[in-house]
Amino acid sequence: MDDPVASILLITASPYGRASRGAILAMQAVKNLQRKDPSLELVERDLSVLADATVHSVYADAIVGGHSHDSEVFTLSEQLIRELEDAAFVVIATPMHNYTVPASLKMWIDFVLRYGRSFATIDGIKKGFIENRPTLVVVTAGGIVAGEGKFQPDHLTGYLGDVLTTIGITGLKFVYLDGLASPARAEQVTIEGAKTIARDEVFGVGEPTPAFA
Ligand SMILES: Cc1cc2nc3c(=O)[nH]c(=O)nc-3n(C[C@H](O)[C@H](O)[C@H](O)COP(=O)(O)O)c2cc1C
Repeated sequence: MDDPVASILLITASPYGRASRGAILAMQAVKNLQRKDPSLELVERDLSVLADATVHSVYADAIVGGHSHDSEVFTLSEQLIRELEDAAFVVIATPMHNYTVPASLKMWIDFVLRYGRSFATIDGIKKGFIENRPTLVVVTAGGIVAGEGKFQPDHLTGYLGDVLTTIGITGLKFVYLDGLASPARAEQVTIEGAKTIARDEVFGVGEPTPAFA
């Protein structure tokens, strides 16, 4: 059997989907990866179209009751986990909503972190079953989230890092497009964000370093 085509998984969590400023910047990373390896296929997971999906009682019962992984109730969960497993690279574009991830991304987390499937507790320690892979997170926010001028709590960065570490994805790279409520700052952070991505050893315009080759 032929090897499956390696992919880039682009997850967009903004209600504006691909039109969001975060997604537009994230696409630069996608294009850089595809320029370096044209065989990489883009798989887009626009969470805004899953607005009706939620953790209902049937899903909760199945999770807590340890239903078999091929149970119909896990169809969406399986699809989301497999997209992640198949991705050589993951790019997440997410806004900050009330200091943390938007409900759409929280829903993705609740479908992807599945006990016994994507992680388990072994000898008292949570062990992730998803192989680590380079992951970039572009965070958009109306106010300032990181660095000088930060005036609000940030429960997004640490939280997203913790949940993805639980399933085995570590070392996330964060790029912040923050303070977007100010048009002057929006322009400046967009330019800086593009430069940060362009310089990145994996997601940037240069050739990857041997560690990632
Ligand atoms: C429900 C909601 C909650 C928000 N909460 C925050 C927040 O806690 N901090 C912040 O800086 N901006 C907050 N914002 C503003 C968004 O982060 C901001 O509009 C961002 O630019 C949206 O980016 P996008 O174009 O990628 O969706 C919130 C927006 C919405 C709709």
